[in-house]
Amino acid sequence: MRYAGTTALITGASSGIGAEFARRFAARGADLVLVARRADVLDALAAEIRETGRTVQVVPFDLTEDRSGRRLAERVGRVDTVVNCAGVAKTGSFEDSTEDEIRLQLRVNVDAVVDISHAFLPRLKASGQGALVNVASLTAHLPVPGLAAYSAAKAFVVHFTEALAHELRGSGLTVLALSPGPTRTEFYATSGTHENGVRFQTAAQVVDTAFAALDKKNPPVSVISGAQNRWVKRVLKALPTRTALRLMEAEPVA
Ligand SMILES: NC(=O)c1ccc[n+]([C@@H]2O[C@H](COP(=O)([O-])OP(=O)(O)OC[C@H]3O[C@@H](n4cnc5c(N)ncnc54)[C@H](OP(=O)(O)O)[C@@H]3O)[C@@H](O)[C@H]2O)c1
Repeated sequence: MRYAGTTALITGASSGIGAEFARRFAARGADLVLVARRADVLDALAAEIRETGRTVQVVPFDLTEDRSGRRLAERVGRVDTVVNCAGVAKTGSFEDSTEDEIRLQLRVNVDAVVDISHAFLPRLKASGQGALVNVASLTAHLPVPGLAAYSAAKAFVVHFTEALAHELRGSGLTVLALSPGPTRTEFYATSGTHENGVRFQTAAQVVDTAFAALDKKNPPVSVISGAQNRWVKRVLKALPTRTALRLMEAEPVA
């Protein structure tokens, strides 16, 4: 089975899409390195996965740390696959956001993704059996008022990852930008985003999308999860920008 005998490092593994990635890589025979801040939650997931015979290393780590890629690389050994899944958003107007809220979103969603991709690239290329998956968002494809810094950060992730995929073509490493739409995880509660009229996918559906792409003979460099989300992107892109911005506005929970 693809990924059997390899090791996958997954950031944001304590919750939602990252935890689902961990379970699914384990089911495909991969050993794991689980990264997030909540050590107790990672330990519980690691115990569950070890029951299946896989080796799991837990690395409690705050991705707002400077040079997070190099620091993580010093703490782990062989890694064939990296899934940069950790992400954070704060819904509200940019003007009313604090400096800390803005920095946090850029650190975790941009700096950590770049640092980790750079620090682990030599190992991923040497292995040639794995993948680099950077988790972006549907919001990457359409600017979102109320999530201005977040959606722009995710646009960075898509552009960065797609360019990397081209630079690394023929290297044996698969590079994929994964853009989930609204997904039922802890994310909406943490970001304080209103759920009015939102149609959610499950984390399992998002990870299905990722593996369907990764399993292709010629994997795409970028994929949006869910037919409805792909449709939303197409329709909103076709509209005048001001209309699209009005429709996309994210509302904070009162
Ligand atoms: N859910 C959605 O609707 C949705 C839509 C589009 C894109 N996405 C993207 O999908 C990815 C996964 O999100 P999710 O829905 O699974 O959200 P989630 O359930 O809130 O999980 C977020 C993960 O990121 C980790 N994280 C946050 N800040 C961190 C930090 N400073 N250091 C280390 N880890 C940190 C969290 O772990 P700790 O708290 O333990 O540190 C958690 O494991 C994110 O990149 C998100 O932007 C989500």
